[in-house]
Order: sequence, then C-alpha cells, then structure tokens
Amino acid sequence: MLLLILLLFNGFGYCGGSTDAPQALGLHHPAAEEPLIFHLLHIASFKNHSWAQSRASAWLGDLETHSWDTVLGTIRFLKPWSQGNFSKVELKNLQALFQLYFRGFTMEVQAFAHQFQFEYPFELQISAGCSLHPGQAPESFLNGAYQGSDLLSFRGSSWEPSPGAGSRAQNVCEVLNRYQDIKEIVHSILSDTCPQFLAGLIAAGKSELERQVKPEAWLSSSPSSGPGLLQLVCHVSGFHPKPVWVMWMRGEQEQKGTQRGDVLPNADETWYLRVTLDVAAVEAAGLSCRVKHSSLGGHDIVIHWGGYSILLTLVCLTIIVTLVMLVVLGSWYQKQSSNQNALSSGVSSCTFPLENNTQCPRSLVHQLCLAQESWIKNRILKWKRSRNQFF
Ligand SMILES: *[C@@H]1O[C@H](CO)[C@@H](O)[C@H](O)[C@H]1NC(C)=O
Ligand SMILES: *[C@@H]1O[C@H](CO)[C@@H](O)[C@H](O)[C@H]1NC(C)=O
Repeated sequence: MLLLILLLFNGFGYCGGSTDAPQALGLHHPAAEEPLIFHLLHIASFKNHSWAQSRASAWLGDLETHSWDTVLGTIRFLKPWSQGNFSKVELKNLQALFQLYFRGFTMEVQAFAHQFQFEYPFELQISAGCSLHPGQAPESFLNGAYQGSDLLSFRGSSWEPSPGAGSRAQNVCEVLNRYQDIKEIVHSILSDTCPQFLAGLIAAGKSELERQVKPEAWLSSSPSSGPGLLQLVCHVSGFHPKPVWVMWMRGEQEQKGTQRGDVLPNADETWYLRVTLDVAAVEAAGLSCRVKHSSLGGHDIVIHWGGYSILLTLVCLTIIVTLVMLVVLGSWYQKQSSNQNALSSGVSSCTFPLENNTQCPRSLVHQLCLAQESWIKNRILKWKRSRNQFF
C-alpha cells in the first residue's frame, strides 16, 4: 500500500506542467499571418426612384479604420493612425473624390435602373481594395453585387461581368466600359493610391496591429447527439492577433474529430474560438485541449479534460483507505507489542516525495490534497513518536 502511495505521488508530479508543454513536438504552429487587406465597403439601398441611401466603411483586415459621414460628406477617421502617412492635402483630395463618387453613383444608378433591369427596392454592394504581399506586386480588386449576388468586377483596366451573372451584368459592363476616364481613375486608385495608403497605414498602426494578447482557455461539455456521447468544448478567448491553433489531443495524438468554429470578435478587439470534440463519455478521460498562439512564446496552453479530478480522486481515495488502515494498525500495534521490528523498518522508509512536486497547479482540489498529505505526515510522525515513547 505504501508503495502504491509513493507511485501515485510520483505520478502526481506530472499532473502540472499545464502551460509548459514540451517544445520538440513537431506540431503545427499558428498559421502564418495572412497579408493584410485594406478594403472599402459601399452598400447602397434604393427604395424607389427618388429615395436611396449609402453606407460606406473602410477596413484593414478585420479592423474598421474609416467610415463615411453621409450627412457631412466627410471621411471619419476611426483610429488615431487612420490617416496613415497621407498629408492633409492628399486626404482632402481623396475626400472630394469620394463626395463626387457617392453623389454621382446614386444619380447614375437611378438614371440607369430601368435599363439595367434593377427592380426596386434593391441593394448594390461594392467592395474594393488592395493587399500587399512581401516581395510581390500589390494586388487590388473591385467587386460589385446586385441583391447580394456577384454582378461584376474590375479587372486590369476594364469592367467584366461575373460568371453566371447573366445579361444584366453584361449590359452594365458594356455601358460602364464606354467611360474611359472613369476606368483610368479607378485603375489609378486601385493600383497606385490604395497600396501606397495601405503601406502607410500598416506602418502607422503597427503597434496596435501587432499587439500580442494572450488567450484564456477553459473547457465545458454538453450532451452530444447520441446516448453515452459527450461533446467536449474548448473555449479560447481574448487573444490577438487572430491566427490561433487549437486541437483536442490524447497525449501527443491530435484528435481527428476536432471541429473548429469560426473565430469570432470580442467587443475589445480580441478574438474568441470554440473547438469541439464528440467522444464516448467513457473515453473523455485523458483528453486535453492544446492552444498555440504567437503571444504564448512557445509555451502552449494545455488543459486536461477531467485529468486532475480522476487522478486526484484516485489519490485521495488511496490516501483515505491507507489512513484508515494506518490508524487501525497503529492503535492495534500500540496495544499489541508483538512483531515491532518488521513494522518499524516499514514505517521509517515511508517518506513522501511531496516537496519536489512544485509543478502541481495551485487549484483548490490540489490544496485539499496537500492538506491531506500534510495531515498524513503529521499522523505518521505522531504515530512514530508514540511508538518511540512506547518502546
Ligand atoms: C420612396 O421611399 C421613401 C422611403 O420609404 C418614401 O418616403 C417616399 O414617399 C417614396 N417615394 C415615392 C415616389 O414612392
Ligand atoms: C507612404 O508610405 C509608403 C510606404 O512606406 C510609400 O510608398 C508612400 O509613398 C508614402 N506616401 C506618402 C504620401 O508619404
């Protein structure tokens, strides 16, 4: 029995190590950062031939950096660094261009609505922007949609109907392609102005964009579809930047059934991710959720599913059983003075290697066990003392 306790307490040594996973695992690292895309989103709603409304915003990746004030006809800069490295004059010129665009867009669409077979009420969406790839030419894009379906895009220096968009799209492109000046302006903004602005914006917003915030992780479960099945849920929240690697593991083995949700935004511009695994309830023990993120500097978060509680239950049960036996045996030996030598040697070798277990988590359960451990030690010391007095 004492040997069993020793083994268990030695085993206890690895119940910690939660955040210090071995590095030489050869596991994937969080996806390399995707290139940042800067894009402008314009949504125009047309109720009837005399009523229309436009909303516009600009985004750097998932971060809203600008919006358009439709009343004042001005750019709103939503971040302290939203002006990038453009001068006041350059920004003023851009603002004037956008004023012209928003006004002209509404007027032209209303004028051509009948010819383009746009049926009131309808919505047009335009997404235009660019991205920078290290060592490559910048890429730019402009896509338009009618009622939520792709309609056209701007490629090279002309308008092209989207595949499957039909005669309406061909008709629109045919008309748009007649305006050479507009095509040149669009081309210049997409291929020159946008990448320049984006580079300046990334430089100006560097500290916020590269902000590293560590994730928190916790586990929960919910009954799964079938009887005896369990859905284990690993929640990872509060991290920045967005790329993160989360996997359900058994030891070093990635669990293939791991399902990853969408990375969702928190209100404080950090991210949240939910990763689930459906397992038979009896197989849940020994599973863990592993999180890799750039903010963790290689120290993955590993949370064990019920790992401690099962081990601790076993340990505590063993302790209690042993205790009872020791107490019973002790009082029995105090009364019966036979066979002392054999027992004496057994007890003096009873040293608990507890002091080395500094890695164990300071959880409530663990403190409880520590308390029990010291209680056992005291018991044994007392018992030894009383035995010494006795002899
Ligand atoms: C157009 O729609 C607006 C907003 O719904 C409405 O107030 C207006 O009377 C409509 N005009 C016409 C000509 O139907
Ligand atoms: C802004 O910075 C980018 C990249 O550093 C550069 O290409 C561009 O010319 C700059 N623009 C201005 C107005 O300084």
